[in-house]
Amino acid sequence: MAVDYTTHDGVAVITLNNPPVNGLGLSTRAGIVEGIERAQNDPAIKAIVLTGAGKAFSGGADITEFNTPKATQEPTLATVIKTVESSAKPVVAAIHSVAMGGGLELALGAHYRIAAPGAQIALPEVKLGILPGAGGTQRLPRAIGLEAALNMIVSGAPVMSQQLARSGLFDELAEGDLAEAALAFARKVGAKEGPHPKVRERKIEHPNAEGFIQFARNSVATLAKNFPAPLKCIDAVEAGVKNGFDKGLAVERECFVALVQTPESRALRHAFFGERAASKIPDVPADTPVREIRQVAVIGAGTMGGGIAMNFINAGIPVTLLETKQEALDRGLATIRKNYEASVKKGKLKPEALEERMALITPTLSYDDLKNADLIVEAVFEELGVKEQVFKRLDEVAKSGAILASNTSTLDVDKIAAFTRRPQDVVGMHFFSPANVMKLLEVVRGKETAKDVLATVMKLAKKIKKTAVVSGVCDGFIGNRMIEQYIRQALFMLEEGALPAQVDRAIEKFGFAMGPFRMSDLAGNDIGWAIRKRRYQEHPEMHYSKIADRLCETGRFGQKTGGGWYDYKAGDRTAYPSKLVDEMIVAHSKETNTQRRKIGDDEIVERLVFALVNEGAKILEEGIASKASDIDMVYLTGYGFPLYRGGPMLYADTVGLYNVERAIRRYASQPNGDAWQLAPRIAELAAQGRGFNG
Ligand code: 3HC
Ligand code: NAI
Repeated sequence: MAVDYTTHDGVAVITLNNPPVNGLGLSTRAGIVEGIERAQNDPAIKAIVLTGAGKAFSGGADITEFNTPKATQEPTLATVIKTVESSAKPVVAAIHSVAMGGGLELALGAHYRIAAPGAQIALPEVKLGILPGAGGTQRLPRAIGLEAALNMIVSGAPVMSQQLARSGLFDELAEGDLAEAALAFARKVGAKEGPHPKVRERKIEHPNAEGFIQFARNSVATLAKNFPAPLKCIDAVEAGVKNGFDKGLAVERECFVALVQTPESRALRHAFFGERAASKIPDVPADTPVREIRQVAVIGAGTMGGGIAMNFINAGIPVTLLETKQEALDRGLATIRKNYEASVKKGKLKPEALEERMALITPTLSYDDLKNADLIVEAVFEELGVKEQVFKRLDEVAKSGAILASNTSTLDVDKIAAFTRRPQDVVGMHFFSPANVMKLLEVVRGKETAKDVLATVMKLAKKIKKTAVVSGVCDGFIGNRMIEQYIRQALFMLEEGALPAQVDRAIEKFGFAMGPFRMSDLAGNDIGWAIRKRRYQEHPEMHYSKIADRLCETGRFGQKTGGGWYDYKAGDRTAYPSKLVDEMIVAHSKETNTQRRKIGDDEIVERLVFALVNEGAKILEEGIASKASDIDMVYLTGYGFPLYRGGPMLYADTVGLYNVERAIRRYASQPNGDAWQLAPRIAELAAQGRGFNG
């Protein structure tokens, strides 16, 4: 049973009991209605307390039921709230920990609300691409005022209960035991004559509601580009302000039904569950014991090492930072300090916190100082020989049970593990640059990596606020292996007739934060060049356009050299199309006897995105990623794939794998078609009428 019913001396207590967060699924909803009716029919009961067991009052509607028959089956949440609101006996919502979405809407339907301090109160529906669909857009403005409510509804951000103490939302803030306080409160109001107050009957007071709503609409329109939900929230609130509660409720319902079916909402829900699913590894049970990480060491204080160290320091974990030379150490520390100073300047970090954070770093040139570290992350030069030296040394000094991680982006983690006598303790922790900012962490599982090492790193990733995705060992892991195919297509298209600005514009219009050429200029074209040179040796059969090599031969490595695919002016990151480069591209087509043609934006987007999808499908087939949503999380958090499209694999599902397959077969029959080897997984799923995500 998802709801418990108990009585306490004239008070009925209805306790939602649907772990983990008391989601308002069908059985919970039915249980609440049953409880309210039971209390009505029991003459001994004078008042009702509605509360939640475990770690939430309620996290809201059960998202897993969306777009299933259960979502609309009676009693719907609207029916539940109506039942609560029209109860002749007063209902007191006793709120603790979390009251979100439908959970808060349910509480707003009660006659009274009492909260424990420290509870997170939110209407986070916009984050799932929908709007509060059970009266939230109507009742919250009546409870806490138009401006405060609209802010909460449009941002979805949680507010702590104590901050709302005087807002009109709560009748009381319980400092001591919530259950006791709620019972006492219920007895008090149970002794009162009805009818009991209803939030729906309150008025929305605002000196210039219309003006404020217009102002809100203008600001939200720019901020919420590509996401339809926030503007719909304003429509629903406005309808209630202008035409009263019932009309407002009808508009809210209409908007909810429309939004829940949008691809944007599907994408946001996919990302919500994808993020949580990423931390679950099929053969590593949730109860796998983890190792304690109290102290971390980072080897190498360069671009990555410094950023990696900051992650741990920010989470309060002390870091020993090791370098080979004092100058390198000083340089690394100075960069970390500069980053914190910038945060202080922006008001993101309190000035006193700067020294506290710096004090958590112990700089050293000696491996002896690493012997207490529970985790050591290596971020030295990307050369196997250098990694060998470091890991052999770590094997000598690290304490038994310490986790040895490498931040390598291209080297074989199994080879690195084999430099030690403890390959079970070795794992890849592939951070993305800038490591203190980017959310993504690829956790690379070697063939011998122990399960508790993985479980520990996944747990630690949460602590340092990263989205961790497990990847098997392969060249480029999940993200870079896929991006290589994307870049390959981008280069072929230059040869066939496009120019860098056109390619970037098309994919940026699709929603990518940055097109491949602007991205490459930012990262440094020399990085891709080095990788291609290696490919020419290792995979001579693989065919690449040589146009990027021609560019690199002229020394145009990107922003750092003042020019790459684009021209740059000193102190200005704007990419200006380069006449010289464009001419070089046209000349290259001529040299390779390629007839240039006009390439449409649709083709550009298809070839770039389907190149990701095709390689992603191979990654799934090989078991490098355990599920399609892991791949999507890599692209959403590390590569600027548009969130409202949910990642490449979900996007492919939206287009339909039948269509993806046809497009890939078509490109395979055109010039440079050898780059398109259709992944069998796509054909299999398409034949079954399925997608990557079911
Ligand atoms: N429905 C179904 N499952 C939910 C859920 C929900 N509303 N909220 C959380 N869960 C699940 C998670 O998927 C996760 O499952 P797992 O253990 O199998 O991975 C589990 O609960 C725990 O979630 P977290 O790992 O996120 O736990 P935290 O303690 O870190 O956070 C939380 C708890 C703050 C409640 C967070 O889960 C959250 O923000 N949930 C979403 C809340 C939300 O968006 N509610 C609105 C729903 S839509 C709605 O109510 C529509 C209504 O207006 C009609
Ligand atoms: P970097 O050149 O900026 O820094 C490397 C640092 O390691 C230098 O400060 C150097 O002095 C130090 N170092 C070299 N040998 C050492 C040794 N034996 N002991 C201790 N310190 C030593 O390089 P970067 O960019 O930080 O890369 C480091 C690692 O991170 C590489 O494996 C790279 O592939 C990987 N990586 C880099 C990314 C990037 O965008 N730069 C992204 C993800 C991973």
